[in-house]
Amino acid sequence: MIETSSSVDYGYLRQLVFGLSQNVLDPSRDYLFDTRLTKVLRNQGMARLEDLVHHLKAKKNPLLERSIAEAMTINETSFFRDGRPFELLRTGLLPALIESRRMVRGLRFWSAACSTGQEAYSLSMLLHEHFPLLAGWNVRIEGTDISAEVVERASAGRYHRIEINRGLPARFVVQYFEHVGEDWTVKPEIRKLCNFRQANLCSPSLPFNRAEDRFDVIFLRNVMLYFSQETRKALLAGIHRLLAPDGILFLGSSEQPADPSIWTPVLAGGTCHFRPRQPS
Ligand SMILES: C[S@@+](CC[C@H](N)C(=O)[O-])C[C@H]1O[C@@H](n2cnc3c(N)ncnc32)[C@H](O)[C@@H]1O
Repeated sequence: MIETSSSVDYGYLRQLVFGLSQNVLDPSRDYLFDTRLTKVLRNQGMARLEDLVHHLKAKKNPLLERSIAEAMTINETSFFRDGRPFELLRTGLLPALIESRRMVRGLRFWSAACSTGQEAYSLSMLLHEHFPLLAGWNVRIEGTDISAEVVERASAGRYHRIEINRGLPARFVVQYFEHVGEDWTVKPEIRKLCNFRQANLCSPSLPFNRAEDRFDVIFLRNVMLYFSQETRKALLAGIHRLLAPDGILFLGSSEQPADPSIWTPVLAGGTCHFRPRQPS
């Protein structure tokens, strides 16, 4: 076990992260501040975490505070993560959605908490591979995340061999990526459907709010587990408003809606997705 420094006010740092990203950090994981904030310390020309805390307490510095909250996020992701939602979309959910949208010829997806973009690009590859008819449609895949660093990486669409080797069928690598040195870059036809930007899911208003911003499919996976129950409830109420009445919500495999009264769970394809329940 890594020892934390007793002179650091970790409670202050936990509170700071909670205030900005609503991520609840358990005191048993305080050592993460020591490992994750080394770059922030270096950028500030500081050697010790206690100096950073003193500095923050002495003078408000929103930019620095934000970089701390961002550095503490967990960005674990992979292409076609937990494969079943993608398979279910391919075999049943998307054919039905496409049929019901054939007059408007448009589909909107949101990878909320997209991390480095693999979820959004997986969707784009799925559409390209199995639904060529969508080529003439207006299809958008929005990716948002609180961390500017991961959003920048998602926009670049450039991945290391190790990231590529996680979850991508070999044929997809050859077909949808270009080899650049040690890395692979997403080809333009896959990237062009995707748009990434920074957004905090826990700020008073969600990044999309107009009626025409409604989504057909929202992926909100593996992010709510870091939020308190009240935060989850507020977020899912906002997500409910942004989902088309026949839209589909995917949560992470261990996540549940905080307010089950507004969602209908549907078990299919070895996974669970959620439909918004309409007020009667
Ligand atoms: C574990 S990753 C999940 C990525 C992807 N959804 C998946 O399931 O593979 C969680 C992501 O949530 C982001 N995140 C944490 N708190 C957030 C917040 N308040 N608003 C938006 N994104 C947040 C983190 O930056 C991180 O990239």
